[in-house]
Amino acid sequence: MQLKTIEETIAAAKDTSVTIKAPGTVANMVCGFDVLGMALNDPGDIMTVKLIEEPVVMIHNVDNYGLPTHPQKNVAGVALLDMIERMEHRVGFEVTIEKKIMPGSGIGSSAASSAGAVVAANHLLNNIFSNEDLVQMAMLGEKLASGVKHADNIAPCIYGGVTLIRSIHPLDIISIPSPPLYVTLVHPQIEVRTEDARQILRKQILLKDAIRQWGNIAALVAALMKNDYSLISRSLEDILIEPIRSILIPAFAEVKARCLEAGALGGGISGSGPSIFMLSSDEKTAREVETTMKEVYTYTGIEFYTYVTTVNRQGVTLIA
Ligand code: HSE
Repeated sequence: MQLKTIEETIAAAKDTSVTIKAPGTVANMVCGFDVLGMALNDPGDIMTVKLIEEPVVMIHNVDNYGLPTHPQKNVAGVALLDMIERMEHRVGFEVTIEKKIMPGSGIGSSAASSAGAVVAANHLLNNIFSNEDLVQMAMLGEKLASGVKHADNIAPCIYGGVTLIRSIHPLDIISIPSPPLYVTLVHPQIEVRTEDARQILRKQILLKDAIRQWGNIAALVAALMKNDYSLISRSLEDILIEPIRSILIPAFAEVKARCLEAGALGGGISGSGPSIFMLSSDEKTAREVETTMKEVYTYTGIEFYTYVTTVNRQGVTLIA
């Protein structure tokens, strides 16, 4: 069979559309600030991307979050504009976004929008761009949202599973195999902007603290690869970021202590917060952890949502 030229591919795809689900993600995974992340089966954003002839990006939001529709101010928009820049034969995209991951939740809302948009658009272009190209484009969305490029939400959103980002200059992403894991999240209905949650961090750390932290990161990666739940549990410790950021999250210490008592392997702040996540090795424990989270948050009087989910292994998936 003769391969189609890019022009033929684009002509055939014009006015066609795809609908995708872009998974929420937990960045950092406690000890791996900016270098570890995992994708979740729930929640996830739904997006439809249509290929159009004019090389522009049009954005429609079908939710109540009031996010910007100007492409240069929208995280999906900047990622798609970068894709158009990289194309020899330029086309444009019309995007409809139904966000199910609340912005400012710490569950990778901005990453789902930018990664979902570029994966869907690439599909319409017969996958001319590599996953690494897509991560580069989607990171522009993270820069817009938080002021800094980081890939620990984008990479798991695109690749699925647990990913390690060894470097972003040059990009070096490693998929880490992991045993079955249940993830329980509580999302208190307050917004923590990633940009603010980064501003408050210390710019310098002590060598002895760095040693402890990289011991935990290395052990967590080894534990995931060896299916060693006990080592996963011991490695879920963050002495650098959590002591500072947890101040922004109501009842953090109590939620964490009570969830560990309920049998969770461990957990902490999801991304930059305010959501808190806990890992469990079985569903029954994950549900008990959810009950515990509900008890603590009901007492605080703050509105909240909870999720019990598992690790998403596919990343962004085509649903239509
Ligand atoms: N690694 C980033 C941070 C993730 O913690 O600031 C933001 O979701």
